[in-house]
Amino acid sequence: MKTLIVFYSNTGNTSKLAKIIGDKLDGETLEIKDQRNRNGLIGFLRAGFDAVTSNVTIIENFNLELSEYDLVIIGTPIWAGRLTPAIRTFLIGNSEVLPEVAFFTTHAGGGSSKALLQLEELAGKEPLACLSIEKSKLKEDSSDSEQEIDKYVKTLQNKFE
Ligand SMILES: Cc1cc2nc3c(=O)[nH]c(=O)nc-3n(C[C@H](O)[C@H](O)[C@H](O)COP(=O)(O)O)c2cc1C
Repeated sequence: MKTLIVFYSNTGNTSKLAKIIGDKLDGETLEIKDQRNRNGLIGFLRAGFDAVTSNVTIIENFNLELSEYDLVIIGTPIWAGRLTPAIRTFLIGNSEVLPEVAFFTTHAGGGSSKALLQLEELAGKEPLACLSIEKSKLKEDSSDSEQEIDKYVKTLQNKFE
């Protein structure tokens, strides 16, 4: 199956998970870049505000044909219980050309249920599978998330057999 992993990551956790999933599925990755500064106290507060108020942002252009893939896997960090503005903006602009989708999130322990619903609503289709990993489980010395990630990847592979 031809797979693309689309993700946004500010501090590297979601990027790390995207790479793990990409390697396991032999997929390509596309990092969505938010043009707004999300660093420092002001950036953090603004990030939370934009997530809560469902604001869009400006993302860098990319030149990939999403419809050429069998599966697009979309990953986002959780901000204030929501998905990130960058992934919101990506989905608003591209939902109509998405093939089958799957979602994943990283968070700090607060869970992802609301954000997963937002992802489904914005993508306009049910995901084949969802994965939420707490960031501490992605540390170098942790193998806590291995089974969960493998199960997610297997579920996706089985759908295309
Ligand atoms: C503005 C902001 C809000 C956040 N809100 C939550 C939250 O509501 N629940 C949670 O579990 N983690 C929250 N986090 C933590 C991130 O979801 C977590 O660190 C994630 O792994 C970051 O991904 P990244 O390293 O790819 O940017 C928040 C982080 C930021 C910057």
